[in-house]
Amino acid sequence: MDKRVHRLMGIGGLFAVLSLVDILAPFAAAADYEWQVPRQRWKMPFKDEQPIYFVNRNQAPAEWDKLPRFWNETIEKAVDPQTGEVVTRKAVKIKVPLGLTANPPVPAENPMTVAKWRLGKQLYFSGLLSSDGTVSCASCHDPKRGYTDQAPVSTGIRGLKGSVSAPTVFNAAYNFLQFWDGRAASLEDQAQGPPMNPVEMFDGEGNAWERVVLRVRKEPKYVQQFRAVFGTDPTRDGIAKAIATYERTVLSGNSIHDRADLAMRIRVEDEGTGKYEITAKDYETVLTAAFDAKDEPALAALGLNVEKDRQKVAETAKSLNNGRALFFGKARCNSCHVGDNFTDNQFHNLGVGVKDGQLPPNALGRFAALPTGHKNADLIGAFKTPTLRHLLDTAPYMHDGSERTLEEVVDFYDRGGNANEFLDAKMRDYDAEKAYLISQRTHVPYQGPNVKLFGEDQKPIVPLELHLTPQEKHDLVLFLRALQSDPADPIVADRHKMPE
Ligand code: HEC
Ligand code: HEC
Repeated sequence: MDKRVHRLMGIGGLFAVLSLVDILAPFAAAADYEWQVPRQRWKMPFKDEQPIYFVNRNQAPAEWDKLPRFWNETIEKAVDPQTGEVVTRKAVKIKVPLGLTANPPVPAENPMTVAKWRLGKQLYFSGLLSSDGTVSCASCHDPKRGYTDQAPVSTGIRGLKGSVSAPTVFNAAYNFLQFWDGRAASLEDQAQGPPMNPVEMFDGEGNAWERVVLRVRKEPKYVQQFRAVFGTDPTRDGIAKAIATYERTVLSGNSIHDRADLAMRIRVEDEGTGKYEITAKDYETVLTAAFDAKDEPALAALGLNVEKDRQKVAETAKSLNNGRALFFGKARCNSCHVGDNFTDNQFHNLGVGVKDGQLPPNALGRFAALPTGHKNADLIGAFKTPTLRHLLDTAPYMHDGSERTLEEVVDFYDRGGNANEFLDAKMRDYDAEKAYLISQRTHVPYQGPNVKLFGEDQKPIVPLELHLTPQEKHDLVLFLRALQSDPADPIVADRHKMPE
């Protein structure tokens, strides 16, 4: 039986593919630039597809330890789902930087391959996505500037200014939601925004995406790559997928703090005490190693000179450890900046941009992005907690770029942010607020930090002051500097560098 049945199945399969394309053709024509049904015959053969895999130390320590660099070419055996044959093909393993204990999530419909990544990298750096060819993603998220533009607000097409600061793309792969107000659900979703944003990449004439796609289709090198990668002509769907694939490799880790965390784990396992907490000794270990390895970027982040400052190791380690204790203790920064990426992926109103207790107009933040039926007044003026991993390259800080230095940021938190009606619960001094309410009821004069009253209800708001000493502020800033991660690997950051 088998030969004939096989042949029939083959024909049937072919028919199914063809007819699906045919059936959908009228719809595809309408939204042709949005998406197309893939044609298998355009796609590169399975055996030539080079999948990209992530390997992280937490989940695969032995394999991770053996990988010599960020981008590692390997060979794998895999089953071709079309033919059932086992093929040997090339693959890439990405060594996820130390400190990132999970791989970036990848949507099932957008698996990572080298060809897709190459395409995405070219598009990321290409002016084709903007109406007049002058602006690329990299204009505002420049690898040389920590994947930001280092400006309080971004400048787009025709020099137009936006209203918020460009966040870094570093580790954006791990964000639960994208944008300061979380209005995009994925990198694929996010990447579709700028090309139709009138102050970023779009001149406002006609249909933004249709024009982007037509521009990309004019370039034979892109048409050929899209056909090989997606089995379609260039489409909005494919552009978003390719760029997101590139962005998933913009990873940052292996900071001095990550290294100290690892040193601590090794030490505690040696000692067998089970007390997993970093001490000054662990910072000393990794600082000494950084001097031995002449790790200029990591030391410079702490203001240390590779050649001259070796004698400052003990003192720096002590300061760093104090800064760490403050971050996770008295200054309670970790109540929002938690986990590998130092963010809870939530939204908080810190009062950034508030003047005289008033939020600036159009600064409703997360509240505005929530659909009707899901509005939450606690999120008025709330913005996403950003990562703290590349702060030395990403000033100025906050969604409006209003804080110029880390010292200013720490002062901002020291005074409890800016009082306003919707100040986040975690930023408030509840005890003082309660004491004030009791004093109102009992007519006993209130003694305590300054109370501001907001809204019709005259709600008392007392920002939680941290009372940090100058030395504590210094140490906390030093700790933030120790979160400065390794520079991105050139294969990711250098627009001209491509894998074979
Ligand atoms: C004109 C400057 C500009 C251009 C061009 C631009 N961006 Fe952005 N990007 C921004 C700004 C500003 C934000 C924050 C906007 C907001 O949150 O409302 C942002 C947000 C993002 C985010 C969300 C990060 C986070 O932590 O929430 C990602 C990812 C991103 N951009 C990637 C891209 C990609 C990919 C492109 C090219 C398709 C691009 N950007 C083009 C300025 C720009
Ligand atoms: C209540 C939650 C919360 C707490 C507590 C908190 N942060 Fe933040 N942090 C945020 C949010 C939200 C933002 C962005 C706010 C905005 O732009 O409106 C932010 C922004 C920052 C930034 C700017 C980063 C950038 O790329 O713009 C730094 C630096 C920072 N925080 C450090 C700290 C430190 C240090 C502490 C402890 C003293 C701390 N944070 C405590 C939520 C918090």
